[in-house]
Amino acid sequence: MKILVVGGAGYIGSHMVLALQEAGCHPVVLDNLSTGHRDAVRNSELIVGDQSDQALLERIFTTYTFSAVMHFASYIDVAESVLLPAKYYQNNVTNTFLFLEMMLKHRVQNFIFSSSAAVYGDVQQTPLNESHPRLPINPYGHSKKMVEDRLYDLAQSTGLRYAVLRYFNATSCDSLGRLRERHDPESHLIPLILQVAKGMRPYAAIYGDDYETVDGTCVRDYVHVIDLCEAHWLALQALQDGCDPIICNVGRGEGVSVKQVLASARRVTQHSIPVQLASRRAGDPAILVADIAYAKQRLGWRPRYLEIDQMIRHMWY
Ligand SMILES: NC(=O)c1ccc[n+]([C@@H]2O[C@H](COP(=O)([O-])OP(=O)(O)OC[C@H]3O[C@@H](n4cnc5c(N)ncnc54)[C@H](O)[C@@H]3O)[C@@H](O)[C@H]2O)c1
Repeated sequence: MKILVVGGAGYIGSHMVLALQEAGCHPVVLDNLSTGHRDAVRNSELIVGDQSDQALLERIFTTYTFSAVMHFASYIDVAESVLLPAKYYQNNVTNTFLFLEMMLKHRVQNFIFSSSAAVYGDVQQTPLNESHPRLPINPYGHSKKMVEDRLYDLAQSTGLRYAVLRYFNATSCDSLGRLRERHDPESHLIPLILQVAKGMRPYAAIYGDDYETVDGTCVRDYVHVIDLCEAHWLALQALQDGCDPIICNVGRGEGVSVKQVLASARRVTQHSIPVQLASRRAGDPAILVADIAYAKQRLGWRPRYLEIDQMIRHMWY
């Protein structure tokens, strides 16, 4: 089975490529390396190019016959999206729409899209299920919602079958150390904390300790990237069996506070990890935890990695 992995040189996409290889599939990666890494694509073909390059896509889709596309290509920094919204709408929306048109022109009809909890905006209930209103509060979240809506429209007018997976906080990496999370600049909490443990940063910032949570710090739902890949794999099987659209949260279904993450990182690394308290960041909900009942029921998916210590251990080398 040949799968086109768009954005497969990035953090989550490269883990997916490895998972597909291990399942006996033949992934082909399209990535412009804007934030991805050439050496993250191991033992698969990497085509360096942009998802909006129509001539390149024409060549790719006439050279290969794909069973499905997995789409990871977007910009991902929420704070940057507020400062540079056009950059996010151009790549995450316009370029993705162009890609979809070309994919459908070549009759590839199974598509899995990396969406985000950011589509929900301000949290009205926790844990948060898929029927929560989608009212994004930043351009990144808007860009994800716009693609979700486009997929819905395209499915009405074409034979498109699609899955939208709304990730919560993806974390950790391949337990054998073949791949890692390498965002630059890094904005995710756990890699930032580990950079402090390695002496690359003087301290980890805690943005607010007066939230109504277990210890005053924000609570997030960390899901192991290997579990995310498993959800994609199950979604792929379901699409190939010709199912209706799949739209589901992918999290661990449990929250962990910033202070709990810090305590775990101290246990795993045996470093003291200094912290500095900073003021709350605008738009940070106190608690963001997924209700994953639907993913369990619809995909038969279960997160296997349940301990934050284990997730951090896989990242510590
Ligand atoms: N990391 C998370 O916690 C998280 C949470 C929710 C959703 N997501 C979504 O998951 C997906 C993957 O995230 P990630 O953390 O692996 O990000 P990443 O930046 O590591 O990977 C994105 C990849 O897409 C490539 N890319 C970007 N624009 C492209 C274009 N126009 N043409 C070709 N390639 C392009 C980049 O070079 C990179 O390799 C993204 O869509 C992101 O929005 C991630």
